Amino acid sequence: MGELKKLVMGLMKVNHESKYHPETNVFNHTIQVVFSALAETDDVDLITACLLHDVGKNATIYEHEQVGAKLVEPYVNEKVRWLVENHLRINYYLCGKMRSGKAKMLFSSKWFPDLVRLRRWDVMGRDPDFRLSENVLEKFGVIVDKYLR
Ligand SMILES: [Fe+2]
Repeated sequence: MGELKKLVMGLMKVNHESKYHPETNVFNHTIQVVFSALAETDDVDLITACLLHDVGKNATIYEHEQVGAKLVEPYVNEKVRWLVENHLRINYYLCGKMRSGKAKMLFSSKWFPDLVRLRRWDVMGRDPDFRLSENVLEKFGVIVDKYLR
């Protein structure tokens, strides 16, 4: 199995704090995020970023976006790496935790619209009633094989 697939499958063993993530498991969450993305885009980089955005949680929850970006860096292009690294920054901006200079830099990125979409699907991926059926796992397996080599 390739390294990126291993990172995504490893998320099966990682649980979220239910206070912030009612869906509780990071793998379960990732599937929901990817399914939402596939309903709205066919951008390969964006879907790949959705698959990988939380892989840093294999190692840590705190600053998982930076850790995840480093983990995926050898295997993905700069756009995917950037999306993984910055996927929480919109939150920081909206909560007033980002200086205006940094916000300007973020907004000026050519990938900023994709970052907003990734964040949208990330927030949508929190359905506590979502269940991992065999059908869902099979469907997700096909997607993983298609986007992560
Ligand atoms: Fe996420």
